[in-house]
Amino acid sequence: MSTSSTNSARPAAPPRSARWITTHRSSKNSPRWVSERVTARARVSSLLPDFPWDTIAGAKAAAAAHPGGIVDLSVGTPVDPVDPLIRTALSAVAEVPGYPTTHGTVELRTAAVDALKRRYGITGVDPAAVLPVIGTKELIAGLPRLLGLGAADLVVIPEVAYPTYEVGALLAGTELLRADGLTRLGPRDPALIYVNSPSNPTGKVLGVEHLRKVVAFARERGAIVASDECYLGLSWEGRALSLLDPEVCDGDHTGLLAVHSLSKTSNLASYRAGFVAGDPELVAELLEVRKHSGMIVPFPVQSAMTAALGDDAHEARQRERYRARREILRGALIAAGFRIDHSEAGLYLWSTRGENCRVTLDWFAERGILVAPGDFYGPTGTEHVRIALTATDERIAAAAERLTTP
Ligand SMILES: Cc1ncc(COP(=O)(O)O)c(C=O)c1O
Repeated sequence: MSTSSTNSARPAAPPRSARWITTHRSSKNSPRWVSERVTARARVSSLLPDFPWDTIAGAKAAAAAHPGGIVDLSVGTPVDPVDPLIRTALSAVAEVPGYPTTHGTVELRTAAVDALKRRYGITGVDPAAVLPVIGTKELIAGLPRLLGLGAADLVVIPEVAYPTYEVGALLAGTELLRADGLTRLGPRDPALIYVNSPSNPTGKVLGVEHLRKVVAFARERGAIVASDECYLGLSWEGRALSLLDPEVCDGDHTGLLAVHSLSKTSNLASYRAGFVAGDPELVAELLEVRKHSGMIVPFPVQSAMTAALGDDAHEARQRERYRARREILRGALIAAGFRIDHSEAGLYLWSTRGENCRVTLDWFAERGILVAPGDFYGPTGTEHVRIALTATDERIAAAAERLTTP
């Protein structure tokens, strides 16, 4: 075989001016090209923890081998169909060819403002201070960076927390502290404080006094507070409040951001739909950076979000589905000897038998049930598992039967 024919099977080498080099890891048929910069410096992925879900592959395989099939209560992904009202709104604009705006349509932002008021009693949000995002995970992973935080800054997250808060801090290279109480901070002045009420994974709801203290502390120390309100519409016992509730912030949104996902309340996880609202200056800054970066919610999704935010009936129906599933699972877990902590709101039952969560994980897997080990969420989660309510009625019934059959 001639040299030239060998070369013709390979992709053309990128120009030297682009400082590309070949790697030798790839197969003969698909040689890959990797930037010299990437190889010379630490890969960004090496800054991040191992992807936690990979660590439960064994338990997943064991659960899948159950003769009655797996009941997957691990990830918390919605299973009920998207409401027809929302689907219609999505497809109604499917022919529109132009670029959407990063700020979103006025209709979408107005619908968000109205929904915040109707559903949660939040007042004083101007539609200009609402910014749609491509699912809130994307915003959270990028927020410290978007806000210009770096090595000199401290980001505070809850003790046990949704892992993406940490990811955002790592990507921006900030310092990170896990703390539920402000006293843990001592004299430190954090740049960004996350609150998440109702919490993932614990389902804990922060009371009005706690939230007011966070706001007062942040104002005194010059910190921004980002409140992840993904589960605000899913309260089972008591009332969960938004950071932007006038009872919490006295109507002053300065330094405050509320992050709202439509994934759980409207079953829109597949659409990637959320928004952030709050301090008009902070939202304007995020908008400016996101405009330059092309972080734009697709127009059909904006249309779907507008419909979802304008209708409370589908949201209420979904809440009732989860309420019923929660009752069944909760009863079965208690009958099986579990203690359920917090979990007064949100989509998870934070459960323990007082043993290491990996032992509990395997116990569930033997019964064909997959749950999430608490150590995914922080070092103090090691004796709990997180059990999601996001499975069909049939699968929830199967789980309950397996848990209560000796
Ligand atoms: C606390 C919390 N915040 C944010 C998200 C991200 O939601 P999404 O990216 O679907 O809007 C989730 C998803 O499970 C979550 O549990």
